[in-house]
Amino acid sequence: MTEERSWKLLDLLRQATEFLASKGLESSRLEAEWMLAAALGVRRIDLYLQFEKVLQSAEVASFRRLVRQRLTGRPLQYITGDAGFRLLDLQVDERVLVPRPETEILVEEALAFLGEQPAGEVLDVGCGSGAIAVSIARECQAARVLATDLSAPALAVARGNAERHGVQDRIRFLCADLLVPMGADARFAAIVSNPPYIASADIAALQPEVRDHEPHLALDGGVDGLDVIRRLVPLAAAHLLAAGRVFIEVGAGQSADVEALLCDAGFDSSTVSTRQDLAGIPRIVTGAIPG
Ligand SMILES: C[S@@+](CC[C@H](N)C(=O)[O-])C[C@H]1O[C@@H](n2cnc3c(N)ncnc32)[C@H](O)[C@@H]1O
Repeated sequence: MTEERSWKLLDLLRQATEFLASKGLESSRLEAEWMLAAALGVRRIDLYLQFEKVLQSAEVASFRRLVRQRLTGRPLQYITGDAGFRLLDLQVDERVLVPRPETEILVEEALAFLGEQPAGEVLDVGCGSGAIAVSIARECQAARVLATDLSAPALAVARGNAERHGVQDRIRFLCADLLVPMGADARFAAIVSNPPYIASADIAALQPEVRDHEPHLALDGGVDGLDVIRRLVPLAAAHLLAAGRVFIEVGAGQSADVEALLCDAGFDSSTVSTRQDLAGIPRIVTGAIPG
């Protein structure tokens, strides 16, 4: 890849696409487009209006820097600084997990429940980028949210995303280990969480992109992956309003154990169920406290 020649946008895009594909990247064209848009400071769609544009050498160099980062395995979203989640464009970097599509289903379930509820505060435990908390505040005008995380750097990212989407007035942020600092009388209409749920021994076998770049605090759920959920469930039971609901994202093969944890903690067993994700994996476990 020589820097001397002048490049038309489309030619550079094609060359980078081939290059990334030759290194084994599956969505090479799409990824090249996202990185070129980031390098030029434009929207991806705008690239299509300027295919014939001759790029400045500084623009080409900045694009090539991003491509080189991608080849080290750095996730695309950290390189561009952006991740799409439901209606949101979230700012992300190595301080937070890249929000995943399956978590969008958790938000959908929580919003359907909140739509039927009188106003009450929603608690998002382990908010990371703010994907869940900011989505709920954006999509449910009546919602007030308390977003917590054990990681202060993650909370800073979530706060930035709340401001970016104009919902900072309806979200409080708290650095906390689960619900430990909550007063005994704190009660929530709903508690939502996408906790770390990967078994420690499975971390080494994750895709390098995830294993080497995403925060382990966001991934590692202890010996069987359920350490955090096991602590979370009884705390959630103690801090929900009557008829309040918990929504917890779980890993493949964990839903039956988590449903049992809910029943043991006093959730009404007739309300305990799991919704599958788009791949058919039981993913979002929910249950209500007796009304
Ligand atoms: C899987 S990530 C989810 C992030 C975000 N909610 C999402 O869905 O993209 C889990 C988050 O939980 C946080 N976390 C881990 N252990 C925690 C604990 N004991 N108390 C509070 N947050 C915790 C991590 O820092 C991380 O941000």
